[in-house]
Amino acid sequence: MSHFHTLKVKDIRKETSQAVSIAFELPADLKNTFVFESGQYVTIKRIVNGEDIRRSYSICSTPFEEEIRIGVKKIDNGKMSGFLNNELKVGDTLEVMPPAGNFVAKNHTANIVGVAAGSGITPVFSLLKSVIKAGGKFTLFYGNVNEENTIFKQELEKLTTNHPANFKVHFTYDEGAAKQLDPIQCGRIDEQKMNDFIKLNLEILKADGFYICGPEAMINTVNETFKKMGVADEKIHFELFTTPVKKADSLEQTAPDSSYEGTSHVTVIMDGEEFEFDLNSKGATILDTAIEQGADAPFSCKGAVCCTCKAQIIEGKATMEMNYALSDEEVAEGFILTCQAHPASDKLVIDYDVI
Ligand code: FES
Repeated sequence: MSHFHTLKVKDIRKETSQAVSIAFELPADLKNTFVFESGQYVTIKRIVNGEDIRRSYSICSTPFEEEIRIGVKKIDNGKMSGFLNNELKVGDTLEVMPPAGNFVAKNHTANIVGVAAGSGITPVFSLLKSVIKAGGKFTLFYGNVNEENTIFKQELEKLTTNHPANFKVHFTYDEGAAKQLDPIQCGRIDEQKMNDFIKLNLEILKADGFYICGPEAMINTVNETFKKMGVADEKIHFELFTTPVKKADSLEQTAPDSSYEGTSHVTVIMDGEEFEFDLNSKGATILDTAIEQGADAPFSCKGAVCCTCKAQIIEGKATMEMNYALSDEEVAEGFILTCQAHPASDKLVIDYDVI
């Protein structure tokens, strides 16, 4: 099972007035533990006023840069993002969980389209650098409020200059019209905007993979737009940055046998220890109950988004309220998000140690 490790902050870079990137020092004995793929994230833990706060942040560096660096945009009233932006100093330590996440590309020599809004650029920035480095093609559509708040803007422009055959970026700005920019650069990334871009270059639709990252509404809109244009479902990948406000039918998955009603005997295996308890199918989640029973079960978003609470069913069945993080293959292999899971058989055994 993944545990938190204490890492020292090596560097903090101000990316915009509202965002920093933070690089960690990796001791030799943790190098293998923190091996990552472009598109993954880490979860950070901090106790604030006695409250256990956990947040997941995408890695913006790439494996070939030999650095693990995350991007953090300051959120209004965000306890963790406010601390990381305003108070954290080089030399401080943070509790960090090893990289995780499925927002990765199997083939970096492919032709990829990325769509990002705001800090949704963070994992996409890592992905596109890996694709360019491997000789693939990357076309990015990137929406922001204005140019000043566009994270990695200069680096992206430099990449287009240095790799014109491999990388193209199209910026859009909410405040574009006020600044009299070209109409295609004005406004949010929505269905109309994506249609406008596609009309200008139909080749976009022939990409091998589509990677969308940003707020839920933008992801749903862009996902639907690509699908309406004939892009196959399995080519579209997305990463939610916020806990969803509602269940999106297209994203929801429900495990089989959700009609089960009753009390199940649950065994949770963690760190080689077993925690046993009875849990009703309509009761609390497996994660919350396991923690109540003394298990140091991992979690971050508790919103079906981050995947930190993943475990595997060894015996029995479970249902999930929502799933925005596990792939179909993982669900088929018996993986569950324990923050969303309820028992669906008289006996259930789940294992956190297999992760
Ligand atoms: S804690 Fe994030 S998906 Fe369960």
